Order: sequence, then C-alpha cells, then structure tokens
Amino acid sequence: MKLNTLINSNKVEFDIFYRKLLSKQLNNSILAKAMKYGSMNGGKRIRPFLVREACKIVKINKKIMLILAASVESIHSYSLIHDDLPSMDNDDYRRGKLSTHKKFDEATAILAGDALHDFAFELISSNLKKVDSKINLKIINFLSKSTGHNGLAGGQSKDLYYENKDVKTTNILDMYEKKTGKLFEFAFSSPFILANESKDRITFSKKYGLLFGLIFQIIDDLLDDMNSFENIGKTPGKDKKQGKSTLLNILGKEKVINFCNKKIKKFIKLNKKEFNNNPNLEELLNYNLKRAN
Ligand code: IPE
Ligand code: IPE
Ligand code: MG
Ligand code: MG
Ligand code: MG
Repeated sequence: MKLNTLINSNKVEFDIFYRKLLSKQLNNSILAKAMKYGSMNGGKRIRPFLVREACKIVKINKKIMLILAASVESIHSYSLIHDDLPSMDNDDYRRGKLSTHKKFDEATAILAGDALHDFAFELISSNLKKVDSKINLKIINFLSKSTGHNGLAGGQSKDLYYENKDVKTTNILDMYEKKTGKLFEFAFSSPFILANESKDRITFSKKYGLLFGLIFQIIDDLLDDMNSFENIGKTPGKDKKQGKSTLLNILGKEKVINFCNKKIKKFIKLNKKEFNNNPNLEELLNYNLKRAN
C-alpha cells in the first residue's frame, strides 16, 4: 500500500478509536465539550502514525499502540489549544475552524488544554494492560520529560521569547527540538522501550523521532510562509507578522530544504541496517519533507 493511503487509513482507524474513548471517558460538561472540540477536529494524526510504524517494527499489539497514540495526540491537542491562545500565537483558526478559545472562551480553552494534558497521563498510567510496571513507569517518566520544561513547554517558551530577536541557528534548532521534536521522539521510541529493545535500537528510535520532528517543524514554518488557509487550515503568514525566529528566515527556502535533505541522507547512512530492514522509514522521512499540509 502507498504511504499516503496507509497514513489516511491509520487516521480513520485512530479517529474512530479516539472518539469512542473520549465519549466513554468524558462527560457532557462545557470543559469536556471543549476538550473534544480541540482534539477531534480534523488533525492529520501524523504522530499516531509514527507510533503505529514503531509498534509494527517491534511487534507491540494494537491495544497498546492505540493507547500510546491517544496519549500522544492528547498532548499534541493540548499544545495546539494553548499555542493558539491570545497570549501565545493568537490564532483564530485551527484545522480550518475556529480555534478553541474562539469557539468557547479563553478560560475554557486553557482548562481544556490542561485537562487533555492530564488525560494523556491518565491513559498511559492506567490503560497499558499487561505492561511490566517498571517499564510502564519509565514510559510515564519519559512522557513527562518530553512535555515539560526541557521538552514541549520549554520549547514553546523559547519560541515566544525569541520573537523579534536575532537568534543563532543553534538556538533555533534547540527550540525546534524541544517544542516539536520531543513529542515525536516519544511517539516513535516509546514502543521500542515498551518492547525492551536493545540500547542501540532505542537510541536509533529516539534519533529518528527527533529528526522527524525537526523536519516537521521546518516544513510547518515553510507552509506558514508559502501556503493558503485552504491547505493548512490556519492563518498563513503569521510567523513573519509576529516576528518568529525561524530557520527559514535565516537560510531561505532552498537552503532550508537542502539542510533537511542533508540531515536525512547522513542519518540513513549511519543507520543502514534499520533502514534496509524497514524501507517505510526512509519513505516516511521524505514524505515529511514534501508534505503540502
Ligand atoms: C502543528 O502540528 C504544530 C506543529 C508542531 C508544527 P500538526 O501539523 O501535526 O497539526 P495537526 O494535528 O495536523 O492539525
Ligand atoms: C507549534 O509551533 C509547536 C507546538 C504547538 C508545540 P507553531 O506555532 O508553528 O504551530 P502552528 O503553526 O501554530 O500549528
Ligand atoms: Mg507557536
Ligand atoms: Mg502557532
Ligand atoms: Mg507554524
């Protein structure tokens, strides 16, 4: 099956599971409605796809795969709801619709983000059935580090602090790694940890997730600059307007794509065995680079 078709069919399967899970576990309060609105409104579900690919490689069963994917996507949705708030990126649209604070109100959006964050931890601390408790604890610890001060939240803080400043490339890359890379790292490598894979393989999976996330953010910045509302479902041209420090600003389009290509080639060369055994992984990196939304 073609990668595009695989990603789409995984999205359909994931959405059915996630919708059922949310309606089973959440009540009908305003807060729950905002949580559902912010998480079930048409995301690409790329992180769940990475979870799925990793689970396939290390033979983790579907039940665990779906719980992992749901917790990653709950963190992701929380981060988007907060990212759009007036005090952060101040975006009125997300996924082609009003952002959560516009549809509800600011306080509800803040709390829906908080509660989705907590929901992710509720899921991986009580639904990873039959997983050894020590390994389960490791996974919970890993997710907290991926989202915390040295992960997603830390990266978001840097992103805001770097607005309208002259920022070095290394600092921008560090900010990308934290705000976006760390959750992708968790998505792809947590199945390797759960499967008790070797240290080398876990290291490989972490590096793969980080690289994927880095490229994902670089392309997100490119799409912000060059694409339309119809395609990206959010207001284009916002990064420039807000003075965001991006790699695209420093290097320009051509060089930024070359930068990604070089990183991909180098990484594949250093990890030939994994890529030979799992050709989808190379295709997935290139898909990420060429994506149009
Ligand atoms: C957008 O993520 C935010 C970034 C980290 C770049 P996605 O592009 O995965 O957003 P959805 O879930 O598909 O809407
Ligand atoms: C988002 O980066 C990163 C996180 C939400 C963690 P952006 O601010 O570029 O994401 P979009 O473009 O609003 O989706
Ligand atoms: Mg942002
Ligand atoms: Mg934003
Ligand atoms: Mg963006």
